[in-house]
Amino acid sequence: MVPTPITVRVPAKVNLHLSVGESREDGYHELVTVFQALSLTDDVTVVGSDEPGVEVHGEGAGEVPADGRNLAWRAVRLLAEHAGRDPEAPGVRVSMNKGIPVAGGMAGGSADAAATLLALNGLWHLELGRDELSEIAGRLGSDVPFALQGGTALGTGRGERLVPVLARHTYHWVIALDRDGMETPGVYGELDRLRAESKPNPVGDVEPLLEALASGDPRQLALLLGNDLQAAAVSLRPGLRRTLRAGVQAGALAGIVSGSGPTCAFLCTDADAAVKVAAELSGAGVCRTVRVAHGPVPGAKVSEERSDR
Ligand code: C5P
Repeated sequence: MVPTPITVRVPAKVNLHLSVGESREDGYHELVTVFQALSLTDDVTVVGSDEPGVEVHGEGAGEVPADGRNLAWRAVRLLAEHAGRDPEAPGVRVSMNKGIPVAGGMAGGSADAAATLLALNGLWHLELGRDELSEIAGRLGSDVPFALQGGTALGTGRGERLVPVLARHTYHWVIALDRDGMETPGVYGELDRLRAESKPNPVGDVEPLLEALASGDPRQLALLLGNDLQAAAVSLRPGLRRTLRAGVQAGALAGIVSGSGPTCAFLCTDADAAVKVAAELSGAGVCRTVRVAHGPVPGAKVSEERSDR
């Protein structure tokens, strides 16, 4: 019998609010964050195979390890263990088609891990519920549960404890991709260093932002976007200051470093404005490339079309 592959489409995220607390004993930082899932997506296909492994296609594929270090492969092993299968011989091949920027602060690796869990749940007929998958997802990484859930959500703990947030509007974004990725632990480390040296202003309470989301007014939301990691990302890569300025000069309501960077996300008034901002920003020479996206979009979902190669 020819094995039937399963493809899952999974979104990128942007943090509308990212408040970073003290470093914990386990090396993680306590977070209060608001995630929004965006229409930049990866497609992840799993299929039973006697040539197990990972393959990566699409933009930036060369920078993604196609071996046991890949978070999607760690998802395979963890779920195999959970399901009582041999994690050394899971008998599956995972193929990723990247549309989410690699090492860009948009949780692309986490998204692939989330998609892999959901796809294998189908392939292996495990019938695990969303809660159980989410618990396993949280063990793989802080952003993995959100990639399963999608929409807009408040995250606490390491970012893995989620509550859905009411978002009354579709928001339009321009995403500016930088030339090279940044490693998340390095950016958290830089924030710790900056905090030991001086006291960069923290982003403050999340409540006003939640109210703005409920009202659905992008102008109000733009005033409240905030990311404690932005100062650290800009300190490590000073050119980002120019990118952020250029987006606002091009007509965006506000710009923010996405997660740990270096991708910058610009909130725009509407879809037309986003197209204009994107065109102007790509001509300004401050980033490698730009994308237009909207959110919120749903989390990881099994898709009908097959997209592996
Ligand atoms: O959980 P995840 O593997 O995505 O995190 C990557 C790295 O980001 C961690 O090893 C840690 O250095 C940093 N991190 C953190 N606090 C968090 C989330 C991530 O310090 N809440």
